[in-house]
Amino acid sequence: MRIDVFTLVPHAYAWLTEQRPVAAVLGGELELRLFNYRDTTPLRSGQVDDEPYGGGAGMVLRVDVVAAALEAAYEADPPGRVIALTPKGRPLTQAVVEELAAEPELTLLSARFEGFDERIVEHLATDSISVGPYVLSNGDLPAMIVLDSVARRLPGALAEGSAELESFSAELDRGLEYPHYTRPAEFRGWTVPEVLLSGDHRRIETWRREMVKVT
Ligand SMILES: C[S@@+](CC[C@H](N)C(=O)[O-])C[C@H]1O[C@@H](n2cnc3c(N)ncnc32)[C@H](O)[C@@H]1O
Repeated sequence: MRIDVFTLVPHAYAWLTEQRPVAAVLGGELELRLFNYRDTTPLRSGQVDDEPYGGGAGMVLRVDVVAAALEAAYEADPPGRVIALTPKGRPLTQAVVEELAAEPELTLLSARFEGFDERIVEHLATDSISVGPYVLSNGDLPAMIVLDSVARRLPGALAEGSAELESFSAELDRGLEYPHYTRPAEFRGWTVPEVLLSGDHRRIETWRREMVKVT
């Protein structure tokens, strides 16, 4: 799949692209393109935002700037879903991540300060997504959350089976995964559940199913 991110800080994505799972699928299952609104802004001196009509604090990302960025990247309409990252959007859940990972193309729009001119959300975006009921300073951490969570669903991102059986997966009825333990078997008197040391795979499977927490 291809993910295009529109941002003011493309360099901020360098860290994420060096980490697995994004690094594992980049150039293969995932093509990532980063666009800087400033490169295509029709305004002078790289201006991208402006004061809000009606007054008030903060600056608002301009609709003409985002339209120019999309036109420069796609010439015609963007080929897939265009997602505005905003606290007012649809909450991001694992089911939404799986839905997005099935798309061939995604466009992510990041804003900052007061956020988007509402016409961007209404007319240029097809969707809006929130990464949680709290406010971050810009849409780049949310865009990276979408990128990471979608990338780990792509073939080759993880060891086989890891993404199928984890918290919020359909396989676990969207519940929270059972606990994991590793060596040592005892530390400061804290022991590992006996069943996990038993070698009895049927009992282990039953125990793990019992330990899944319903959400
Ligand atoms: C400071 S926020 C703007 C908050 C906005 N004035 C409000 O009260 O809803 C700046 C930008 O960060 C991004 N952002 C902040 N929190 C977010 C969240 N929970 N989910 C998705 N994007 C978020 C959005 O792109 C947003 O436009």
